Amino acid sequence: MRFMHPIKELTENYSRRLATVDPEREFALVLVENLPPAEALIGAVVRAAIDRTEREAEFAIIVGRELSRNGLGKHLMKKVIEWARKKRLDAIYGLVLHDNTAMLKLADSLGFERYYNDDDNEVTLVRLRL
Ligand SMILES: CC(C)(COP(=O)(O)OP(=O)(O)OC[C@H]1O[C@@H](n2cnc3c(N)ncnc32)[C@H](O)[C@@H]1OP(=O)(O)O)[C@@H](O)C(=O)NCCC(=O)NCCS
Repeated sequence: MRFMHPIKELTENYSRRLATVDPEREFALVLVENLPPAEALIGAVVRAAIDRTEREAEFAIIVGRELSRNGLGKHLMKKVIEWARKKRLDAIYGLVLHDNTAMLKLADSLGFERYYNDDDNEVTLVRLRL
């Protein structure tokens, strides 16, 4: 659901890219167990990056299944929205599969609007004007 297609391998380059956040353009909040880094499991992640327009950011979020429906998704979404507001962006958006009821409902509850693309039958854009 997060990547919209199965990811079978995490390459070193891609993991380095994910772990290196440019504070000028990107935001990442990671929820981990209160254990040393080598042991702590990651429970949830929300990320966002300012896009080429320089006025909007794209977000992506994942909450581990065992932690879901506890309000964490909503909490993390509020944090990323707060970051986008501080950056004085015009909007924040994400791409969600049509059948991803959980994310669509979460976005609805935060005031995101849905945009359908005629060329793409699988993905809905959810966008919040800030
Ligand atoms: C979508 C996702 C982030 C929701 O996280 P979560 O922590 O379970 O969400 P919350 O507990 O904060 O729920 C907030 C609201 O979202 C909606 N929601 C969440 N899970 C839902 C589900 N399984 N079915 C229907 N609505 C759901 C509800 O409106 C819920 O409010 P409520 O609990 O008061 O009814 C999580 O399911 C996930 O990581 N999914 C896989 C990755 C993904 O799809 N990412 C989106 C692409 S960017």
